[in-house]
Amino acid sequence: MGDRKQVLSCIQPTGNLHIGRYFGALKNWVELQDKYDCIYGVVDYHAMTMPFNPAKLRQATWNVTFDMIAIGTDPDRIFIQSLVPEHAELGWILNCMTSYGELGRMVQFKDKSAQVQESSKDTFISAGLFTYPALQAADILIYKADYVPVGKDQDQHLELTRNIAQRFNNLVGREYFVLPEPLYTETPKVMSTANPQMKMSASKGDKHNIDVFADPARITKQIRSAVTDAGDTKEGEMSAGVANLFSLLKAAGDLDSYGSLKGDYDAGTLKYVDLKDAVADAVIKVTDPFREKKAEVLANKKQYKQRVKESSIAIRARAKETVKEVKDLVGLLNVK
Ligand code: TRP
Repeated sequence: MGDRKQVLSCIQPTGNLHIGRYFGALKNWVELQDKYDCIYGVVDYHAMTMPFNPAKLRQATWNVTFDMIAIGTDPDRIFIQSLVPEHAELGWILNCMTSYGELGRMVQFKDKSAQVQESSKDTFISAGLFTYPALQAADILIYKADYVPVGKDQDQHLELTRNIAQRFNNLVGREYFVLPEPLYTETPKVMSTANPQMKMSASKGDKHNIDVFADPARITKQIRSAVTDAGDTKEGEMSAGVANLFSLLKAAGDLDSYGSLKGDYDAGTLKYVDLKDAVADAVIKVTDPFREKKAEVLANKKQYKQRVKESSIAIRARAKETVKEVKDLVGLLNVK
């Protein structure tokens, strides 16, 4: 609080929490908590942009929330988007300040709409998927965030957010919205151990991601079976699979093993099994406290739900304030 910079980021309640998501983003969120005024949203309105199951959405939202707490996110900084419906209201207003052309250029829209089209003919590309960047802009601008820790894949959405904010400011003749900046930290892009040409992903199937909460035997098994050479490597070049293992070892913080195994690799004496075992041990060591905390969280679900509901109410007060001002500025009427 006080003069600390405002940080905001959000996660969709889809898929499991795997080590790619952890090392690539969530680890960073936890570290930022000491330095900035951070708020983190579980964005369930966003989860409706792709085909979804109403009977499962609420549980998915709580599951992600519990996972975030288990890896060290402060529950008092978490909000659930549908408990702050002002996001949808501001989202509508910003929709009207976003051009059709801009939305059509979003790479994620192109990717995801192609995914929907391939998945089944009984479904359709929703208008929500198309306009979702305006809702994302609302998520960010509603708290006047200075910094948004995101991966490179969100670059385009963040630039669009700044354009929308600027357009709004021009329209109302005031520097009302803060133009948010991305906050990049050096995070590894973790590849699937089963196919190191592909990013680790929850949607590609179990073998393509290593769950943060998986039991150690399973983690070891998955890393032991990592593809190290897919036959696509040029002379003298490290294969994608081996590079991924080294990068994981570094991300998991075992720099001693990293140094000595890299030495072996350079000398041409590296045994892959040694590298794999070191990676498995390091990943297990990092995730051990998460498994422990998850058990505690699951044993006290009710209390944690209550806490996140309360933090959502507190965070909502800030969102309400912004929406009230925005409605005044654009000539809409405010209740009471
Ligand atoms: N679009 C982001 C994703 O696909 C999730 C997201 C929604 C988000 N709203 C946000 C990220 C606001 C940062 C800030 O991962």
